[in-house]
Amino acid sequence: MSSADQTRLLIVEDVPQVAQYIRGLLNAQAHVKLLDVISDGSKAVAQIQELRPDVVLIDALLQGRVKGPKLVEQIRESKIGVPVIMLTVPQNPITPDPDAGIHGVLSMPFSGFDLITRIAQVRKDFAASADQGGSRVVSVFAPKGGVGKTTLAFNLAVAFGQLEQRTVLIDGSLQFGDLRALLKVPADSPSILDLPTDRIAESDLGDVLWRDPSGIDILLAPPRIEMAEMVTVRDVDKVLSLLRRIYGAIVIDLSSHLNDVSLSFLDASDVILEVVTYDSTTIHNTIAMADTFRAIGYPASKVRYLVNRADSAGGIDPADLERALGRVPEHRVVSDGRLVVQANNEGVPFVLAEPSAPISQDIGRLAGELLGQAAVPAAAGRR
Ligand SMILES: Nc1ncnc2c1ncn2[C@@H]1O[C@H](COP(=O)(O)OP(=O)(O)OP(=O)(O)O)[C@@H](O)[C@H]1O
Ligand SMILES: [Mg+2]
Repeated sequence: MSSADQTRLLIVEDVPQVAQYIRGLLNAQAHVKLLDVISDGSKAVAQIQELRPDVVLIDALLQGRVKGPKLVEQIRESKIGVPVIMLTVPQNPITPDPDAGIHGVLSMPFSGFDLITRIAQVRKDFAASADQGGSRVVSVFAPKGGVGKTTLAFNLAVAFGQLEQRTVLIDGSLQFGDLRALLKVPADSPSILDLPTDRIAESDLGDVLWRDPSGIDILLAPPRIEMAEMVTVRDVDKVLSLLRRIYGAIVIDLSSHLNDVSLSFLDASDVILEVVTYDSTTIHNTIAMADTFRAIGYPASKVRYLVNRADSAGGIDPADLERALGRVPEHRVVSDGRLVVQANNEGVPFVLAEPSAPISQDIGRLAGELLGQAAVPAAAGRR
């Protein structure tokens, strides 16, 4: 069995005999790989964030500072996006309730077969429910300006569209709404500010969205710099909840500036695609940003690094970048000055202008990877 098919399991169990019994059952098979047994419930959430198991098995009768039910609540609140199986005894019956964070139950005694099939079922159900969970929200962000956010966000949105996803691109760079210039929209085109302030209905969107010839819909930023301040966190929450119901993919082009509004876009995102380039200020800011995201409480998996112009290292050793980021960047997009400048000047996506160019292929691959990713942890919020 390949390691990709194996289910990675984490157990939270403070009774050594029970842990030993389950270890014994798992020893004889290859479907489930036991990552670790944690006996202290208060350390479990951090371990889950670190180890990223596919399934967590928790003793419902776990003792200590964080008891079984409390731990389930913590996992649900942390929005880590992992299914939980409760281990219980017949005297303490528990009903599975995915909304409450309990995706399956195992009552003692159980056989190795019971254990393995329950784990497989819970993993499968959870992945299926995550798939149906509506749209994928991807913020394109960087703590440094001019690294290619707008270019990448536009082309990524179009690539999502090509993958049969109904896609909307939001210009979240509210002060200098780059998309207005890029797409050459008429100055009086409506923006996010033209949406009704109380209740937004689907029909209101038709009047406000810019339908781009590339096939995607675009929610533009306000036409004037000072109007950016009129967009509130509530507007963002409302518009995103509506767009999530209608679109399969939502891409947000963010500015490098962090404030309440941009943080609410980031909170609502399933993935923060953080653009880095090979230059020392970008790398420095990216490290600082990682600290901030950690402090906010975003799981590390919410951020995916994209190296733009990845073939132009400019004297920086790629290994140094990996060391600085603490991991291998998940995505890369090559440089193509001629194609990018020409396409941007014409206001067309290069993925349509030259689909076979290496840079377009990189964006296509990126789109596929972002959509194909299993078990989308829904919008991890700030603590
Ligand atoms: N992969 C690439 N190859 C070649 N040129 C690129 C690439 N990505 C971006 N560029 C160029 O870099 C410049 C900046 O791109 P872009 O405006 O998309 O960045 P940005 O991060 O949105 O900037 P801002 O912070 O001002 O919003 C543009 O001139 C664009 O043509
Ligand atoms: Mg921009």
